[in-house]
Formats: sequence, C-alpha cells, structure tokens
Amino acid sequence: MMIREQVPLAPLTTLGVGGPARYFAEALSEPDIREALQYGQERNAPAFVLGGGSNLLVADSGFDGLVLKISLRGIEQAADEGDAVVFSVAAGEEWDELVARAIAGDCAGIECLSGIPGSVGGTPVQNVGAYGQEVSETISEVEAIDRLSLQLRTFTNAECGFGYRTSIFNTTERDRYVILRVSFSLRRGGRPRVRYADLQRVFADASAEPTLSAVRAAVREIRRSKAMLIDPGDDDARSAGSFFKNPVVPQSQFEELETKMLSRGFVLPGYAAGDGLRKLPAAWLVEHAGFAKGHNRGAVGISRRHTLAIVNRGGATAAEIIALKNDIQSRVCAEFGIELQAEPVFLGF
Ligand code: EPU
Repeated sequence: MMIREQVPLAPLTTLGVGGPARYFAEALSEPDIREALQYGQERNAPAFVLGGGSNLLVADSGFDGLVLKISLRGIEQAADEGDAVVFSVAAGEEWDELVARAIAGDCAGIECLSGIPGSVGGTPVQNVGAYGQEVSETISEVEAIDRLSLQLRTFTNAECGFGYRTSIFNTTERDRYVILRVSFSLRRGGRPRVRYADLQRVFADASAEPTLSAVRAAVREIRRSKAMLIDPGDDDARSAGSFFKNPVVPQSQFEELETKMLSRGFVLPGYAAGDGLRKLPAAWLVEHAGFAKGHNRGAVGISRRHTLAIVNRGGATAAEIIALKNDIQSRVCAEFGIELQAEPVFLGF
C-alpha cells in the first residue's frame, strides 16, 4: 500500500477547509488497515480514521500524524428471520447509496436518513439521525479492528452504547477502533416512518400511506431546501451539517427559560427527551442570540437556509470558523445559560 506525505485534507471534507496530513494512506482492505496502523505506530504518528469527511473540521496547520482513509467496499444482503433482511456493508460505502439500495429492495428502516453525506463506517460513531430515525434502531452489528491489539472485534447493538449523536466510539472508546463493516437489520415490505413534523406536512393531504421511495424523495427535498444536501453549486451546502448538537436540559430549566422568553414575546420550542428532560433546537437558540441566517463574516458565515450550519463561502480558514463557533457559543451562553456543544470532529487542534 502506498503511503503519501503532506496530502491536502481540505478537498476530502465537505467544509473544504484545513491543512495537510503528514502521512496519508487509503485502505482498500483489512490488511491495508493493519499495515497502515503499523506504519503509524513505528513512526509514533497518531492515526486518524477518515470516512466521508462530512462531519469534520481540519486545522489550518493540518494533522501531524497518519490519516487513514477507509475505502473498503461491498454490500452483502442476506435474509434473516421473518421479513428481516440484513445488509452487511463495508465501511467505505457511501451512506446514501446504501439507503437507495435498501429502498429499491423494498426494505424499511433507514428511509428517513436519505441524503445524508458521508460513509457507512461513520454512521455508528455519532449514531447518525434525522427526520425521526437513528441508525441505532437498525444496526445489528459493528465489526472493527482494535488499534492497540490489531485484533478484530464484533460489537452487538447494545455494546455500541448508542445515545443522541453518541456511541462508545466517540466517547468512552474514542479513537480506539477502526470500523470495517456495519450490519443493518431492515424490514422487507416494512412501512415508512412519517413521524417528523416536516415530513408529516408533506404527506398531510395524501390519501394512501406513502411508499418508501416517496419518503426518500420527500426527505431529500426537505434537506435540499435547508441546504443539507451536498450540492457543489450551492455555497450554503459547503458545511459540516449541524455545527452544534441540540442541547438537552431538565424540564425545570426549560420552564424558566420559557417564561423568560415569553416575557419578551417569544415562544421557546422544545421536544420531550424522556425522563423529565427537554431537547431544545440549537438553531432557535443561535438565532435568538443574535445570529441570523445568512450572517457573514469574511469567508465564513451561517447558511442562508439553516442557522445550525456554519458555511465556508470560499477560501475560509479553520481559524475563522473556530472564531465564529466560539462567538456563537459565548453569546448563546450569555443569553440562555446553555453551553452548546459542537457536533463535528475537530482534527489537528
Ligand atoms: N430552527 C430555527 N432556525 C433554523 C432552523 C431550525 O430556529 O434555521 C428551529 C425551529 O424551531 C425548528 C427546529 O429548529 O422547528 C428544528 O429544525 P430542523 O427540523 O431543521 O432540525 P434541527 O434540530 O436543526 C436536527 C439534526 C439534523 C437533522 C434534522 C432533521 C442535530 C444537531 N441536527 O436538526 O442533523 O437532519 O434534525 O431530523 O440533531 C446533523 O447532525 O448534521 C444534521 C444535519
């Protein structure tokens, strides 16, 4: 396998920002991964696993280690009990191609996750979710290499420890495993999920239940309208998706804020998040802290179509993005007493 040096990383990310990798390897197979990890270990270079680069901010100075791009391909499909069909998918496959393929085979369970950029191997790490579905609902197994022992390990769904935008792979076991393959248990002939308000609105007048393909098309259209679909011609889409997680707060804190905002004439939105908790839309908090859609600051800005996306308007630096992020966080904190957590992965900072 060829290992290159000083490889620019910006073109490998959807934000298009940041410097080079000291070493760079593209793995097409499991032995490639082992070889690259060993190469890094011998040089004392930390390794970073790169998937689709859709949730990543690279520092302007780049990364002084080994970037391992995972390009393993292959989708296997096998019937399981009842209507279940298991798709066992190599980490380097494109997520949205898998969704398209599942729907073409009349398999339900990931249709609301249409149009999400990135690769399959990244999806369990942050438990990708949108429009009322999360991958944790259908993942049956994750196969990974332990970077310390270079041994293979298979995780059950429960062992992945999924939560909102989290799993063991980005919390307790962060940077420990390289994901090779993910298995999804889907339901042939299953009904699409139309639970999210935006989606229900599209089908409000429909006389029959929408098909999986209709839901896929609707989700892609909603994403396009919010510039959350990759489109080289749309500079509002040059982002890492949501830049902040939606904060979850105790009901009592929600009510305090609700009263405070009501006195100013604003109705604070919030969603039940189980066990006396409320999830607040970070986009709303950002807007009401004084950042409007289309806010611009040199080469960086906020998408004109969704307040949660920080965008590169062309030639942005990571430092400019971080400055805007910090500003947003401190103004939201001053206004609401809530510390917004950034959602993307930061590399080289
Ligand atoms: N809102 C605003 N301004 C905006 C957009 C939204 O105030 O410009 C408020 C509104 O109150 C709106 C609420 O935020 O009702 C929710 O907005 P939206 O449906 O767009 O969802 P979101 O909470 O902003 C989350 C995910 C997205 C996912 C959508 C749809 C997070 C951090 N983000 O966004 O995921 O696509 O729901 O399910 O949970 C991502 O993680 O990168 C991502 C794009």
